[in-house]
Amino acid sequence: MKRLPTLLLLPALALAALWWGWPAPKGAQVYAQHCAACHGASLQGQPDWARPNAAGRLPAPPLDATGHAWQHSDAALARLVALSMAATAPPGYQTDMPAFAGRLSAAEIRAVVDFIKASWPLGTQASQALLNPNGAAEFARLLQQAGPDAEWTFPGECIPPGTQARPPQ
Ligand code: HEC
Repeated sequence: MKRLPTLLLLPALALAALWWGWPAPKGAQVYAQHCAACHGASLQGQPDWARPNAAGRLPAPPLDATGHAWQHSDAALARLVALSMAATAPPGYQTDMPAFAGRLSAAEIRAVVDFIKASWPLGTQASQALLNPNGAAEFARLLQQAGPDAEWTFPGECIPPGTQARPPQ
C-alpha cells in the first residue's frame, strides 16, 4: 500500500504533461539547459548588454521584449541559434554566442525560438510575426486568438510595415 501513491504519481504526471500541451515545455527545457547560463533564467540578458565587455565582445542580450530579438523573423532567429553570428557578421567578428547546429536539432531550435517568442507581449509578437513570409496571416491569427478585448500596442521602435493596425499609444 505504501507504494501506491508513487505508482499513481507517474500516470498523473504523464496526464498533466499532456494536459499542459506537451511538447511545448521542450522549448523551456532547451532554453534552461543551453541558453539560460548566458541569456538569464528569465531571458533578461547580461548586465550592460549593449556595451562591449573588457574583451571587446558584446554581452548576451535579453531575449525577452526588452532586447531586440523580436526584430528578427523566425528564420533569422533559427539561423542565429544554429550558426551564431556567422550568417550576419563580417568575417573575423568575435562573439561569445555559440553555434548550436549539430548540438540541437532543427525541431529543438524551433521549440526554443517559440519559447522565446511566447515571453513577448501580444503587440511585440504581432509585430515580429509581420517579418515572417506568412506574416499577415500570422498577425491576424494572433489577434484573433487574443480576442477583441485584448489590449495591445506595437513595441515603441516598431514601424508597422503597411498594416492598418493601431499605432502605438
Ligand atoms: C556562452 C554564452 C551564450 C549561450 C550559452 C547562448 N548565447 Fe545567445 N548570445 C550570446 C551573446 C554574447 C550574444 C550577442 C552576440 C553578438 O552580438 O556578438 C548572443 C546573441 C543571441 C541572439 C541574437 C539576439 C539579438 O537580439 O540579435 C539570439 C537569438 C540568441 N543569442 C539565442 C540564443 C539561444 C536560443 C541560446 C540557447 C540555445 C543561446 N543564445 C545560448 C551568448 C550566448
